[in-house]
Amino acid sequence: MAEDYQMPKGDLMKGKKGVITGVANHQSIAWGIASQLAAQGAELSFLHLPGMERRVTPLAESVGAKAIVPADVQDDASMDAAFEAVEKAHGAIDFFLHSIAFANKDELKGSFVENTSRESFLRAMDISVFSFVDCAKRAAKLMPNGGSIVTMTYLGSERAIPNYNTMGVAKAGLEAATRYVARDLGPAKIRVNAISAGAMKTLSLAGISGGRGMLAQGRSMSALGEDTSMEGVAGCALWLLSDLGLSTTGEIVHVDAGFHMMGLGSDSE
Ligand SMILES: NC(=O)c1ccc[n+]([C@@H]2O[C@H](COP(=O)([O-])OP(=O)(O)OC[C@H]3O[C@@H](n4cnc5c(N)ncnc54)[C@H](O)[C@@H]3O)[C@@H](O)[C@H]2O)c1
Repeated sequence: MAEDYQMPKGDLMKGKKGVITGVANHQSIAWGIASQLAAQGAELSFLHLPGMERRVTPLAESVGAKAIVPADVQDDASMDAAFEAVEKAHGAIDFFLHSIAFANKDELKGSFVENTSRESFLRAMDISVFSFVDCAKRAAKLMPNGGSIVTMTYLGSERAIPNYNTMGVAKAGLEAATRYVARDLGPAKIRVNAISAGAMKTLSLAGISGGRGMLAQGRSMSALGEDTSMEGVAGCALWLLSDLGLSTTGEIVHVDAGFHMMGLGSDSE
């Protein structure tokens, strides 16, 4: 059953075609963004991790998806097939959402120094960082008229957040990659940006030890004193993925109720 987000309707994305990755269920950030883009008239296709069909298909069908394709970012053959399916469904595309990350649950707790293995570290980097570069390269080939690419990051890239560990290092890499990809694709008129969202209740957050604490502290230490809303994150994605975002590229936009810029919590007097 689709989550009933109240996404503003309009035609900002009318005539725009694009790809959504990273929907696992109705709580996924990618689903909130897809709902907003669809409410503004976008034509969408969905790439999802193989095995997620049962949850992804009804959501994608509810917004009239043109293609719903399994793709594991660690498997080049499945990525080749998925992008062929996207090209077949749309021809050229205008936008691409990368909303994918993974790190071994056992390492998203305790000491980063003690708990980080080479194998898990490299897997996290492959899925959470290299996949963005690979997706951007593939998506750019389908954007002859320019376009917009957005990825999802978190403040753990800039600050040492308890338990976020390897994922924080991956997000730092992802944010640097955003700038390099933006530089390289700029001449092709492709804009590339990242949204740094505050903690939100999704499957990914559940994988982090103390995820509930991240939510509660994010709320209490934020300037607005509230949770990050799916509507706010989706609204930012709409801005960046539509023509409203013209001239913005290589940017990391914080959508976290003002958590990132606070020095001390407001109750610390
Ligand atoms: N939830 C939060 O608090 C939060 C905050 C800031 C940023 N983010 C980021 O937002 C993005 C989306 O996460 P989410 O919170 O919506 O959780 P989510 O679990 O719903 O989404 C993560 C997605 O990554 C996909 N994925 C993992 N490995 C993959 C692979 N090998 N190939 C293809 N897909 C793969 C999963 O299937 C899933 O759909 C992630 O990059 C996450 O780090 C999340």
